[in-house]
Amino acid sequence: MLDDVEAVVLVGGKGTRLRPLTLSAPKPMLPTAGVPFLAHLLSRIQAAGVRRVVLGTSYLAETFSDFFGDGSAMGLELEYVVETEPLGTGGGIRNVFKYLSAPDVLVFNGDVLCGTDLTAVVDTHRRTKADATLHLVRVQDPRAFGCVPTDEDGRVTAFLEKTEDPPTDQINAGCYVFRREVIESIPEGRPVSVERETFPDMLEAGARVSGHVDAAYWRDLGTPLDLVKGSADLVRGVAPSDALPGPTGESLLLEGATVDDSARVFGGTTVGRGVKIGKGARVDGSMLFDGAVVEDNARVVNSVVGTGARVEESAALYDAVIGDRAVVGAHCELRHGMRIWPDVVLPPHGLRFSPDV
Ligand code: GDD
Ligand code: MG
Repeated sequence: MLDDVEAVVLVGGKGTRLRPLTLSAPKPMLPTAGVPFLAHLLSRIQAAGVRRVVLGTSYLAETFSDFFGDGSAMGLELEYVVETEPLGTGGGIRNVFKYLSAPDVLVFNGDVLCGTDLTAVVDTHRRTKADATLHLVRVQDPRAFGCVPTDEDGRVTAFLEKTEDPPTDQINAGCYVFRREVIESIPEGRPVSVERETFPDMLEAGARVSGHVDAAYWRDLGTPLDLVKGSADLVRGVAPSDALPGPTGESLLLEGATVDDSARVFGGTTVGRGVKIGKGARVDGSMLFDGAVVEDNARVVNSVVGTGARVEESAALYDAVIGDRAVVGAHCELRHGMRIWPDVVLPPHGLRFSPDV
């Protein structure tokens, strides 16, 4: 039980509004398997026994507080702290220092879906008497992440944020334990990157920085395809969460959703409130937000269909994102990450993907 540890969740910065995803909610609040993404992370923190969680954001805290309130419904005490300008990851952590009192603090990137045993991460931190401990995972392509090599004692030897030629496939999973004093030592009142400044400076100064490597479920939801895959993993129970609003399975149907008997909905698809899926439609591993319509014989695979959007008869979506209220006309075909902005109407037969030259 981590009841003597406090947590900080970073949900600010430029990337988080996810405008490019063409959906109106900021990323941590995007419905993911039926609830805002952040609810899944908070449920993991709560399940580990942590009670006090400070959300560090750089934009409207109401976005979060309107939904989560004081956190008591989730068994948490939530505090919201807003930066007047985005302070970066390190600055965001420093900015909440005065709200912390525990000797050890867990810090989370707010866009990571993770099944790691948080108690084990804190145990590593304490056992190694570390100043900071980083949760590390191995990924196929480490270039988009912070590459973090360790020695045979599990000591971090370098922190290389987003390099073209990473020396190992072991990366920063975006979950740390800090000794309180280390947070206090981060410069105040200016942007600081924990990845590019704090960790390299600590290593340079000879601080004890430990790595906790495991093979737990892990995914950064930074891209639309990762969001879709993460959501499907939550629905299927591959990614653990106590916040799923229903049983795990091939699909999650929210209130008022109607699926024709001849339609197939599977692969961890979330069918939002009031969604309608027509005859012969096939929906695989996708997110259908509230009020979306998938008409007869349409195909929706690994795609996001925004709130109130409509996919007309026999249209096909593969790895696509359809903005809120947009219409994909009958027989259109979208593939490979194509995104339709909110309210855009594609006429029937108006767009087709073809690899032909
Ligand atoms: N409060 C606050 N203020 N939060 C911020 C700010 C800021 O100015 N900038 C970023 N954040 C938050 C984001 O909301 C996100 O939850 C987290 O910090 C990480 O920022 P991203 O923009 O998502 O970074 P990334 O995914 O490119 O890389 C980070 O995460 C990887 C793992 O997912 C780095 O920490 C990498 O080293 C790491 O491998
Ligand atoms: Mg990220």
